[in-house]
Amino acid sequence: MTNQSSFQFIPVARASTDSPAKNKPASRKRWWIIGSAAAVLILLQFFGPTLENPAVDPLLANEASLQLPTDARHVLHTACMDCHSHTTEWPWFAHIAPISWIAAHNVDEGREHLNFSRWGSYTPKQQKKLLDEISTVVRHDRMPPTLHKLAHPSARLSTNERFVLYFWARGQMSRVRE
Ligand code: HEC
Repeated sequence: MTNQSSFQFIPVARASTDSPAKNKPASRKRWWIIGSAAAVLILLQFFGPTLENPAVDPLLANEASLQLPTDARHVLHTACMDCHSHTTEWPWFAHIAPISWIAAHNVDEGREHLNFSRWGSYTPKQQKKLLDEISTVVRHDRMPPTLHKLAHPSARLSTNERFVLYFWARGQMSRVRE
């Protein structure tokens, strides 16, 4: 009997006296964490990358040597040009670090692999290879990258749009004179 009542008493005492005393530092700690995270985020903004769109040389640009019918042009512009040309449209959230690093990195790498604004600087052999790769990534739905589609729902391609781009790329391949 005595054992039982003291057993019941202890948890009650813990709950009523301990918790307010413990809660205070805990919530202060929480604010410290939130405050420091905010400070770090604000500081990061000063070290963000510059998001650049280098000039497009019309002689090197895609129109100079590719046939671009309206439907293919539309798909390329809504889904691919943000990373594979110098005509990137940077959304507002791309300017906020750390998203800006990811965005700048993706665009740098995308332009390195395939840059429509420098199309004319590729040799015919390179152009053919790139068109072949375009048809492959479109057929397997590997582009645009998943993260990009989450941030830009309009860049998601329908099956029909993938067909358009696939047949456009195959058709252009046969036009390239090596
Ligand atoms: C968010 C930026 C982004 C968008 C939008 C995007 N790409 Fe890419 N693309 C990349 C990056 C980064 C790479 C290089 C790394 C890789 O292969 O994943 C790449 C690589 C490629 C390659 C080379 C593939 C290889 O195997 O090396 C092709 C071809 C390509 N993309 C085509 C497209 C096409 C076509 C579209 C539109 C339907 C598109 N991309 C949209 C970022 C992008």
